[in-house]
Amino acid sequence: MKTTIGVETATAAELLRAGHVVAIPTETVYGLAANALWPPAVAEVFAVKNRPHFDPLIVHVGGVEDLPRYAVDFPAAALRLAERFWPGPLTLLLPRRPLISDLVTSGLERVALRAPDHPMTLALLALLDFPLAAPSANPFGYVSPTTARHVHDQLGGRIPYILDGGPCRVGLESTIVGFEAGVPVVYRLGGLPVEAIERVVGPVQVRATQSSNPAAPGMLHSHYAPRKPLILGDPEQLLEAHAGKRIGLLLFSPRNLSGTNVSVVLSATADLSEAAQHLFAAMRTLDQADIDLIVAERAPEEGLGRAINDRLMRAAGHRA
Ligand code: TXA
Ligand code: MG
Repeated sequence: MKTTIGVETATAAELLRAGHVVAIPTETVYGLAANALWPPAVAEVFAVKNRPHFDPLIVHVGGVEDLPRYAVDFPAAALRLAERFWPGPLTLLLPRRPLISDLVTSGLERVALRAPDHPMTLALLALLDFPLAAPSANPFGYVSPTTARHVHDQLGGRIPYILDGGPCRVGLESTIVGFEAGVPVVYRLGGLPVEAIERVVGPVQVRATQSSNPAAPGMLHSHYAPRKPLILGDPEQLLEAHAGKRIGLLLFSPRNLSGTNVSVVLSATADLSEAAQHLFAAMRTLDQADIDLIVAERAPEEGLGRAINDRLMRAAGHRA
């Protein structure tokens, strides 16, 4: 199949209406989208991504007004969060209405809903009379794509169209929030900092660091992983411990270190949002570099730094 990279929302809409799978830009990462209300199209998403059916998909909607169309009996706090942060990097896990199929939720009672904050994809959703089921547009288990080129590198030939909305502004997947007995629970750290959520709904429970999480079965520790081994820790010590190996450094901010073949700095000014924006592209660059091992340093454990560290730990956990 020939894969076209383009900027025509009308073309993407036409393909989606015909039941095809199209890659779409969002502010977090690129998604692999299909008509969420048409199971054969959703099944094609799983097939293209090589994704197991037990891992459910996020349903992308145009805005907060769509929330009651697909979810029911949700707490007032969910509505407050959607009103405050949609469109944006927040996914809400809420009791589903029956028009959302088992295929989308993997048979779970809750549906994951999110309004993506990207002008092209919001325009696309406005052209459609159905929401879009979309996982990140990478093969199952690999690092999420943050450019159209990343999508093409891995899924070119398997989908007809990639809607090119430029590099993703946030660079990390959405933060996933649900409610248990009225208490907000974060199941995946992501592009919306926990602190921002707490300012709206008060204290939340963060359950995202568990290696297996029955409420969000996709949160396995082998996710977001480059193929090269990645070790997380103090770069100086790790360089010494692995002397003789060809090492690629993934640094949060600039440092003076010798003995590496390649190094990538996530932010010259130690800025967390800039680092988040560059993280996945940096992992891809190092994965393709002529090195044996990626040595990565942690970001400060606050705000987006928590989500950056979560992805680094998962990337490292791949080989644990
Ligand atoms: O930023 C994002 O969230 C991106 C963009 C494309 O929107 N999407 C994304 O999708 O990261 P995906 O499929 O790669 O990750 C979604 C995660 C998965 O781990 C999945 O298990 C979980 O959300 N999830 C989706 N629906 C769920 C449900 N009904 N119940 C529990 N977990 C769910
Ligand atoms: Mg993913």
